[in-house]
Amino acid sequence: MAKPISLEKILFSQGFGTRRYCSDLVYADLVKVNGQLAEDPEERISTEGLILNVDGEDWEYHEKAYIAFNKPPNYECSHKTTHHPSVYSLLPAPLIERGVQCVGRLDFDTTGLLLISDDGQFIHRMTTPKKNIGKVYEITTPEPITQAQIDHLLNGVVLDDDPRPCYATACDLISEHVLAMTIVEGRYHQVKRMMAAVGNHVAKLHRTQIGAYQMPFNLAQGQWRWLTPDDLKQLSQSIEAK
Ligand code: URA
Repeated sequence: MAKPISLEKILFSQGFGTRRYCSDLVYADLVKVNGQLAEDPEERISTEGLILNVDGEDWEYHEKAYIAFNKPPNYECSHKTTHHPSVYSLLPAPLIERGVQCVGRLDFDTTGLLLISDDGQFIHRMTTPKKNIGKVYEITTPEPITQAQIDHLLNGVVLDDDPRPCYATACDLISEHVLAMTIVEGRYHQVKRMMAAVGNHVAKLHRTQIGAYQMPFNLAQGQWRWLTPDDLKQLSQSIEAK
């Protein structure tokens, strides 16, 4: 059982502002703890299953933030963007305040599964090239996808900036123009460049899976959700399996 912590510290840890500001939120009657109006910012409370309500919005307590996000097109995976709005603009302010980062980036026009966290170790473990965790992309092409192209992807493709070939570790032809391809690296524009190298190209790119974790079917574009302990276990197992 986690040790009780002062409410002010809890609010601060969740990204609701400075400790002083969090304390003022309580004094302004803007904080509820498990449905009860809080009065004392120094009150020690258990974080187990804790639901806060801050200024009318419910907030599940999470010691660390691990979230799945369904990225829409035309958003950049960067805090300081150049041409498009940031994916972070679609997340609630407390998550941004906690310094969450994308676990690997998707191009502005790519859609689908992004993991986002404020746990630096987790981000490192998920992105380190040593772990080479599988990522599944659904690729829509203007030209029909041929068996020769699939064989080429599976046998390795040399891109122009690196003599080491990169491989698809699995290819599953969904229809003449849609291929589900798994890659384990994360080189710059890797999927688009691999498809160009085999003589096709990408009209639409959508990530559906990272390790054993699949995009939840009911997570709409632009929406996010907390990863559950089971989801995190699944992701850890994907790393450990390497
Ligand atoms: N490969 C790409 O080319 N783009 C992405 O966004 C992800 C992988």
